[in-house]
Amino acid sequence: YLNYHVPRTRREILEILLKGLLRLEYRGYDSAGVGIDGGNGKEWEANARSIQLIKQSGKVKALDDELTMYMCFFFFFRESKGYEFESETDTETIAKLVKYMYDNRESEDLSFATLVERVTQQLVGACSSTERGGPLLIGVKSDHKLSTDHIPILYRSLHYCISPAGKDKKGCPTLPRMEQDTCHTLFAEEKKSVEYYFASDASAVIEHTNRVIFLEDDDVAAVTAGRLTIHRIKRTAGDHPARAIQTLQMELQQIMKGNYSSFMQKEIFEQPESVVNTMRGRVNFNDNTVTLGGLKDHIKEIQRCRRLILIACGTSYHAGVATRQVLEELTELPVMVELASDFLDRNTPVFRDDVCFFISQSGETADSLMALRYCKERGALTVGVTNTVGSSISRETDCGVHINAGPEIGVASTKAYTSQFVALIMFALLMCDDRISMQPRRREIIQGLRVLPDLIKEVLSLDDEIQRLAAELYQQKSVLIMGRGYHYATCLEGALKIKEITYMHSEGILAGELKHGPLALVDKLMPVIMIIMRDHTYTKCQNALQQVVARAGRPIVICDKDDYETAKSSSRTIKVPHCVDCLQGILSVIPLQLLSFHLAVLRGFDVDCPRNLAKSVTVE
Ligand code: F6R
Repeated sequence: YLNYHVPRTRREILEILLKGLLRLEYRGYDSAGVGIDGGNGKEWEANARSIQLIKQSGKVKALDDELTMYMCFFFFFRESKGYEFESETDTETIAKLVKYMYDNRESEDLSFATLVERVTQQLVGACSSTERGGPLLIGVKSDHKLSTDHIPILYRSLHYCISPAGKDKKGCPTLPRMEQDTCHTLFAEEKKSVEYYFASDASAVIEHTNRVIFLEDDDVAAVTAGRLTIHRIKRTAGDHPARAIQTLQMELQQIMKGNYSSFMQKEIFEQPESVVNTMRGRVNFNDNTVTLGGLKDHIKEIQRCRRLILIACGTSYHAGVATRQVLEELTELPVMVELASDFLDRNTPVFRDDVCFFISQSGETADSLMALRYCKERGALTVGVTNTVGSSISRETDCGVHINAGPEIGVASTKAYTSQFVALIMFALLMCDDRISMQPRRREIIQGLRVLPDLIKEVLSLDDEIQRLAAELYQQKSVLIMGRGYHYATCLEGALKIKEITYMHSEGILAGELKHGPLALVDKLMPVIMIIMRDHTYTKCQNALQQVVARAGRPIVICDKDDYETAKSSSRTIKVPHCVDCLQGILSVIPLQLLSFHLAVLRGFDVDCPRNLAKSVTVE
């Protein structure tokens, strides 16, 4: 399988072998295995010394999984290579792989950039040369104005082909010298006064500079003697000829805790401002208009679509659930809300006249990104709703809306949720801006948006009361949260917040489903939180409240502040101000954000870093 003129990487060879085995699977699938050269760093050598056997019982899929691991670490079978490892991280493994490939290089003048290219070609996973991962960015700091804000992309012609004449001492073919790197240099005249910072997150560099370059897949950036070059191995159709230096709207204080005990607490209390930032320059409260610059070239096409599909994970998915009803109402289109992983598992049919939204705080969530590519392949128009400029989702979608909530650092998402909520409402308003029959409703919602920041402040002033409630609940094992209509999403989101940072069991229950099972959980000991607001589901919610009370339940109810009737049947109420129905979910979720925060503190957990979780989930 080695063709010296069209050399293949180890991964490609393994893929060929694996496909072959898959084709043979019909003959029996009790076990499968492959034997490949043992990884002496010279994969093109015909006489590789040792054979590495990788085998698995069961189907070829099991071998595939094993090989994925193997390919990530193929040079490293720690005992045999003599490298000391201090951690279990892939980051360390990659650094050691670089060292290993350097130590075993075939030519003395192997440049660092070439070395890095070779290593990345052997890796599988986020940020490798074949799969898009989290963003990699370069901070550019300079005391003076730079002569350009675009970095031209350079192309290297790397010849991995074996020249027939090139033979080593044993007569085996060897690699020719790399063709000389023809990279030009950037800022040649300015090199002394420019500093570069490489990071996977803008927060890491913002202290030094807000000017950054986001790298694309397959970019290799190098700073040599103060000079930056960005190059790619091969030119592909649609490549941008340059990478722009962008200015981030981020300030250092946004990523500091200030007087708060945690980022989560700070972010909860930032919501009166973060929702304003989401609306800034977009909602005009005087003439009741909405402008979304990121959609303006596509809005007509979106208005003509047959269906909206909102795709996301976790909290971002809940933002879709929360706004579905108002989207259906104002667009008069069918709206599907999908968990990205499930959407992909089902191979959901997607058509060219669908518009698919990808809601993601980070813009990097692997499942959402995979779903985005899936929809693009099927010709749907794709729209990103993200909080991270330059993120993969914002780059790969056709158009989109940045929610501008500012950096969210606490792992548990709070202000991004309310800003996603507002962004989707703004989109719904835009979709019907020329529909005469919708104008009264549009005005009502826009005026609701106007007062929203003050109402959020009012809810936040309940913090002490909620802290007292947390003190009564924090030793419980479980909390049920019930509601319906606009507040079903609040139940799901509140339960998710409680689960992820307090490690208590919590379930969001659609009140309409109570009689179909969950009511069996209710007794006088089970903590129950109910959300009952004065909207079209009010009577039905009252009914659910009576059912819970009749089973000796003692519900804590989040309700409108002037709802005395509900207060009569509740053991305790959390009274929130009233707003237009479709925005009320923003006010009902904040008490649950606060409650989860206080519960976690009382239980002694680190609220910003819940166990087993990560802020950006870049694996499927
Ligand atoms: C929960 C939480 C997660 C994220 C989910 C999607 O508090 O933060 O459920 O919402 O991992 O992340 P994004 O929005 O970055 O795609």
